[in-house]
Amino acid sequence: MTQPLDRAWEAITGIVRAPRPDGSPPDSIRPLFAADPARFDRFSRRRDGLLLDLSKTAITDEALAALLDLARAADLEGKRAAMAAGEAVNATERRAVLHMALRAPRGSGFRAGEEDASADVQAVLERMQAFCASVQGGRLLGATGERFTDVLNIGIGGSDLGPAMAARALWTPDCPMRPHYLGNVDAHAWEALRPGLDPRRTLVLIASKTFTTQETMANAALVRGWLAEALGEEGANAHLAALSTNTKATAAFGIGPDAVFPFRDWVGGRFSLWSAIGLSLALALGWERFARLLAGARTMDEHFLSAPLADNLPVLLALAEVWHVNGLGYPSRAVLPYDERLARLPAHLQQVEMESLGKRVTTDGAPVGRATGPVVFGEPGTNAQHSFMQLLHQGTTPVPADIILVARPDHPHADSHRKLLANGLAQAEALMRGKTEAEVRAEMEAAGAAPDEIERLLPHRVFPGNRPTAAILLPRLDAFTLGQLVALYEHKVFCLGALWGVNAFDQWGVELGKQLAGAILPELEAGAPRPGVHDGSTEGLMREIGRVQPVEGVRSG
Ligand code: F6P
Repeated sequence: MTQPLDRAWEAITGIVRAPRPDGSPPDSIRPLFAADPARFDRFSRRRDGLLLDLSKTAITDEALAALLDLARAADLEGKRAAMAAGEAVNATERRAVLHMALRAPRGSGFRAGEEDASADVQAVLERMQAFCASVQGGRLLGATGERFTDVLNIGIGGSDLGPAMAARALWTPDCPMRPHYLGNVDAHAWEALRPGLDPRRTLVLIASKTFTTQETMANAALVRGWLAEALGEEGANAHLAALSTNTKATAAFGIGPDAVFPFRDWVGGRFSLWSAIGLSLALALGWERFARLLAGARTMDEHFLSAPLADNLPVLLALAEVWHVNGLGYPSRAVLPYDERLARLPAHLQQVEMESLGKRVTTDGAPVGRATGPVVFGEPGTNAQHSFMQLLHQGTTPVPADIILVARPDHPHADSHRKLLANGLAQAEALMRGKTEAEVRAEMEAAGAAPDEIERLLPHRVFPGNRPTAAILLPRLDAFTLGQLVALYEHKVFCLGALWGVNAFDQWGVELGKQLAGAILPELEAGAPRPGVHDGSTEGLMREIGRVQPVEGVRSG
């Protein structure tokens, strides 16, 4: 007997296999606007100032109904309740998933098993706030008695991308401290930062959930050496703080409990921006802005937890992704923030989405049987237009795009901002509308082109159109709206995990590379690959590295 979930998936495939009743293809968007002048109103939703417009997708009433059936058949609401109740929804790691607790007000009652998660969160937030007040108020000084002016966050992945993205979006010159982020184990990154930093005035946060990550520990050692050279070993320690779940390892590193800001294992790395991992933001932006960031996310949480599925922004965004990935077979998605301050948002979302949804088995370990997380990439507009947008307009496979627009700028250059918005709106319109042969011909004729020239260029100048975009419009970009925006994507990821039946909260796929790097490192140190251990290519490359430019300890082969 067919189960409701199978039937729901079949209904979606059925819709995209047949032309619509009016004869238009199921992936076409243009005819939907022609047939329904109210389409924008019917396919967009507002929540606390944030607008989500899905009208420039090929989703029809029938498709939306089928997608909502899928959400019900997948028990999305039940799974959401289980997450909020602190059940171990991250089944492979037997962990609760409670990033919502991080931004909930005191007494919210989030629990992880026996543990009062909300009380734990408040206790750490209070310590973070007091620490910020001491640093910013000049009560906590550097080893030489100078005030801290710069905060350097050493971390990678979730211990870097979220805070770095938010700092890029929200930092202004009137903020209390300057934030810096060191992620890559490539010491060129440190060498690029070092000249801009004064060890006497730099506070260093070692941000690592596990406190074992190779890149972070290597960079922590480099930076501690730099501090120690200027301030002595004891002085260096006075400039260090740790953000981690692993308090044993932070103690072993020599960081005293007063300078350790913990969080719990129910905070996933890529969802940890709101936890102690956000301390660089609280220091650099000021507590008020950090609190507004949490408040914005909280508003989205409340909406996500309570709004009906058909009006629920994260649910709708997730259903649009299902429509594109599973219905229409589009394997990637672009994120195009039309705001330079959101330049690092695509990078953050790449981790939030691809580390969560790049899965091929269900939570039970069975093959998932359908496409899951798409490739996510992006750049701010308008830069993207002069880079990869050609492929979105005329490539062979449609790439849905999220176009993020900010209505009001925080600079006085109204004309520049109008140009920016005009471009964002135009890209979405062009992707959907396209340009037909007849339109190209008429345009070229009007411009006086010769008939043979028109025929020669015609195929190159046609745009297929019907390429979908989801528009997200923020009234302005501030800490609150950024919190809303990021939480919107976090919950979208949760929904997709529920719809595809995969665990969106583990990341076993990153382990093999770490293991192999651990095995290769001593061979590079020894100067030669162990014979017969690697494939011929890896072995050949290792020998070549030694030959071309031996690093210390690597002999030429
Ligand atoms: O890339 C794997 C990963 O475990 C991410 O999930 C995580 O955000 C990152 O490494 C950093 O881990 P940690 O915070 O433990 O140093």
